[in-house]
Amino acid sequence: METNKTFTMIKPDAVANGHIGAILDQIIKGGFKITAMKYTKLSQETAGKFYEVHKERPFYGELVDFMSSGTIVAAILEKDNAVEDFRKLIGATDPAKAEKGTIRNLFAQSIGANAIHGSDSDENAKIEGSFFFSGLEKF
Ligand code: PPS
Repeated sequence: METNKTFTMIKPDAVANGHIGAILDQIIKGGFKITAMKYTKLSQETAGKFYEVHKERPFYGELVDFMSSGTIVAAILEKDNAVEDFRKLIGATDPAKAEKGTIRNLFAQSIGANAIHGSDSDENAKIEGSFFFSGLEKF
């Protein structure tokens, strides 16, 4: 995956609260092209592997429980400067600190149930995209 791509997940809270359509609308209006997308549910084991980098953090167990609690939507997005621009579009991790109009400001519940994930670097975008999608999808 090149540097003009990023990886995202619409998290279980946003899916359960019926925000998939509104969030995809914001993503498309933000200038991102969706090049691969899937509706899926993570097991505890798979969520644990995806978030392994946070294993030592105090909220790891809570994060894994939450991310395996319901359906998610995983997608690969394309745009110039994708990683940085997408992090701006979604806003701060803690919705109380997320700028007005950002996806987390509009749809997140809390620092854990915060509606959406966005990769934090080109390197992680590639790793995370490959975790969910094979070469069979277009990315
Ligand atoms: S970030 O985006 O990586 O800079 O954010 P970070 O603060 O490092 O958090 C990493 C992910 O952990 C989630 N998180 C939490 N979950 C549950 N409880 C608490 N207190 C908590 N704090 C952070 C946060 O939503 C990040 O998830 P992702 O999927 O990476 O956005």
